[in-house]
Amino acid sequence: MIKKLNPIHASLLAGVLCILCFMTSHVKAITQLANGSYSIQLKALKENSSEESRVQQSIEPNGELKVKDGKAVASITMKDSSDITHFKVEQQGAMRDVKVIESNAENNTRVVEFEVTDITQPVKAWVDIYIELPGLTYDQDYTIQLKFDPNSLRKIASSAATEGTSMNLLLYLFNKEAFSNGVAFQLSEAPYLKNDYTMVPARFISENLGAQVTWDDQSKVVSIERDHHMIQMKNGSSQVTVNGTVVTVDTAIEIKNGSTFVPLRFIAEQLGAEVKWDANQKSIAIVR
Ligand code: HEM
Repeated sequence: MIKKLNPIHASLLAGVLCILCFMTSHVKAITQLANGSYSIQLKALKENSSEESRVQQSIEPNGELKVKDGKAVASITMKDSSDITHFKVEQQGAMRDVKVIESNAENNTRVVEFEVTDITQPVKAWVDIYIELPGLTYDQDYTIQLKFDPNSLRKIASSAATEGTSMNLLLYLFNKEAFSNGVAFQLSEAPYLKNDYTMVPARFISENLGAQVTWDDQSKVVSIERDHHMIQMKNGSSQVTVNGTVVTVDTAIEIKNGSTFVPLRFIAEQLGAEVKWDANQKSIAIVR
């Protein structure tokens, strides 16, 4: 007999389903990932087990995933490199040698890469170990699993414009993804164009360039202060006060989705930073 759920149970069930849905939906498939490099954590597990393998001690727990047009290549650093004479991973049903892309004899490490089709599934791997100790030769091979943590996936910013600078911000026109010294942030609104001027979020830029931002709810004035340099601005106005003197900016200040947007050149200049625009990537690098 099919029992009808009472409304309380039904709403509880709906809630649980919603949470499950949320928990699974934020893990993106590789085909959904934007091109670029990501950091990802990984673990070596014993064969057919969720227990950690001895191999975990011989790999760096942070790997890198390079995504291009829906394909992903993982690179991992192996420590105790000379002990691990062979390392294979399963690719299209067969065990294949990984590609060595870097090796460092002094640190006894090597970086290997291999294609990954699904970061949510463990990859079957095989290691061949050869260690000669006084009175003992350890010569064994084992099957293990490499398990990525999809929730640890973080985009790594890369831009020629930000290299070698002590403070750098990287934003993209019409894109909510932004980086401060390589660390990814999600903006509440993407930078946009207004009358051909680029508008950027004042708080993200200012705070990440070491300035203090305050909002006075009564006067509706946003104040940005750095090293006794004070900028005050009001929503809808192109008249901005800089250290008590009124200046006119290219485009009026705007509040979008709770964030104050200001003309890029103005804010960068005021905070002593330089702007580099890359038309190909539509990226805005703000460096100091
Ligand atoms: C001379 C040093 C070592 C000794 C004496 C040693 C000894 C052992 C022993 C007794 C086992 C259990 C075997 C069994 O009954 O299944 C084992 C398992 C294993 N060892 Fe070693 N081991 C050594 C070094 C290493 C190194 C350097 C690695 C990897 C880099 C390694 C990887 C493994 C793996 C993968 C297993 C299978 C279980 C697992 O995944 O953790 N061993 N080892």
